[in-house]
Amino acid sequence: MSPLRIDHATTTGDFSLDGQSWTVVNNVWVIGSDTDCLIIDAPHNLAPIVEMVAGRSVIGIFCTHAHNDHINQATEAANLFSCDILLHRDDLVLWDQTQTRPPSIRLVENGETITINDADATILHTPGHTPGGLSLYVPSLEAVFTGDTLFRGGPGATGRSFSDFPTIIASISSRLLVLEPETTVYPGHGETTTVAEEKPDLELWIARGF
Ligand SMILES: [Fe+2]
Repeated sequence: MSPLRIDHATTTGDFSLDGQSWTVVNNVWVIGSDTDCLIIDAPHNLAPIVEMVAGRSVIGIFCTHAHNDHINQATEAANLFSCDILLHRDDLVLWDQTQTRPPSIRLVENGETITINDADATILHTPGHTPGGLSLYVPSLEAVFTGDTLFRGGPGATGRSFSDFPTIIASISSRLLVLEPETTVYPGHGETTTVAEEKPDLELWIARGF
């Protein structure tokens, strides 16, 4: 079995919430072997996702959360690749704001395992940025995919509807910063970081309130 690898692309489009809209650049991560892969978020443009999948079998589309900039290609991708959309039930309220629900949605819970060939990935419920925010920990890659929960330099935004700062801090401190220090953090926007780089700043984030 070939070892897992991580493919990456960025796509650009609009994020809309609370009646406002912003142009944003999203990361798309595809993790997998030579034969099978998992797509992490499906933002804005299907073409680079199809290119990264490169004919492999798609296990699913893992939605870190249901802000429209992370999911607006999910249904089309699920149809194209004949796979499920993995989502936490607490983000259905956000999903329903911008998308109709396809039958391919499969609701997942904290602690569930996704197996990619013989490598396990663990789903972590990391609410705060959104109620159903998810991260995905892949020990064999020393990687955690955090969506908009944890970025280089701090937590994701919590100033808009369905967000909560104490909740995101609880998620980050109890489920992300407890991972192995060398774990690389792959966020939904911007550059990667590591658990070791971010952990010392937790108290600073709490003190500043964002
Ligand atoms: Fe977001």
